[in-house]
Amino acid sequence: MSPRPRIAVLGGVATDYLVRGPSLPETGGSAEGDLFQEALGGKGANGAVAAVRLGADATLVARVGTDRRGLEQLTWLEREGVSLESVVSEPEAPAGAVLVMVDGRGRKQTFSAPGANHRLSIRDVLRSAERIAAAKVLLVQLEVPLSAVQAAVRLARAAGVRVVLDPAPAMTLPEVLLEDVHVIRPNAAEARTLTGIPVHDRASASRAASNLLMRGVGAAIIAAPGGSLLLSREEEAWLPELPVDSVDSTGAGDAFSAALAVSLAESQPLLTAARFAQAAAAIATTRLGAQGGLPYRDEVLGLLSDVQLEVQVGPP
Ligand SMILES: Nc1ncnc2c1ncn2[C@@H]1O[C@H](COP(=O)(O)OP(=O)(O)OP(=O)(O)O)[C@@H](O)[C@H]1O
Ligand SMILES: [Mg+2]
Repeated sequence: MSPRPRIAVLGGVATDYLVRGPSLPETGGSAEGDLFQEALGGKGANGAVAAVRLGADATLVARVGTDRRGLEQLTWLEREGVSLESVVSEPEAPAGAVLVMVDGRGRKQTFSAPGANHRLSIRDVLRSAERIAAAKVLLVQLEVPLSAVQAAVRLARAAGVRVVLDPAPAMTLPEVLLEDVHVIRPNAAEARTLTGIPVHDRASASRAASNLLMRGVGAAIIAAPGGSLLLSREEEAWLPELPVDSVDSTGAGDAFSAALAVSLAESQPLLTAARFAQAAAAIATTRLGAQGGLPYRDEVLGLLSDVQLEVQVGPP
């Protein structure tokens, strides 16, 4: 058995407060749900936990509040086996919190208070330079300051570490950052923000992906309605969503990005990594909330052997 590959994850840590109910409240209104869940969240934490569950050693670069919530977040991360040497304590800002509302059809709304996550600095990143350089893959998202993301990506690039970017929450990005990214994984809304191209199907996802490649990213995998479109300089492929009973997509994108990072860190080809990621995302949609839904390696391999994932290679 080969050793566990090393992944560095830079990103946000939060506590998710989730309420599920038959329908979401309207603006100015209130509604009653039928279930409450409190759990670890934030894209950095989700990515690191997913990477460990999927078979990697994950080190998290983050800032966490020293309040009760922050201490609890660290306990949760530790229990999952995430390496916390690069987590910095933030005594002056509250630990991140996210309100998540999910309706009976799996549609959701989130409202977050980033708190300590917005204090992650370039200096914090430089302090963890060795751990980033020792990783095979760096996984980043956008819940922490862009300056910190850029510093980490530059460091990774210089050390020959591959960079996977999940560009959420949606925002426009500097071209110099895109040029250093090996694989970008936006969903449809994020792809539109980045490229101006509305993504509603495979063809429009392909156009948006081309735009990102022209601007310097190595490859793009866009989550479009019905599946994921993969485009690199060598190949184009469509990976349809797997037939599972989805209840909530919270954390599914995070599971996808982490699985992709783990598989790439195992030196798998991009398309193989994307298949693994597609299955990881599918499992994540079958369970409520982010953390509870983050899949384990055996579950992903089991799903891939149980159902046919009909990857369509080449342009449509
Ligand atoms: N049945 C399915 N099979 C495979 N993948 C699925 C299925 N349903 C959803 N997905 C995948 O789940 C992912 C959802 O990603 P997206 O980033 O939009 O999620 P999200 O709701 O923003 O959650 P997150 O907070 O994790 O990002 C996509 O990669 C999509 O392809
Ligand atoms: Mg997402």
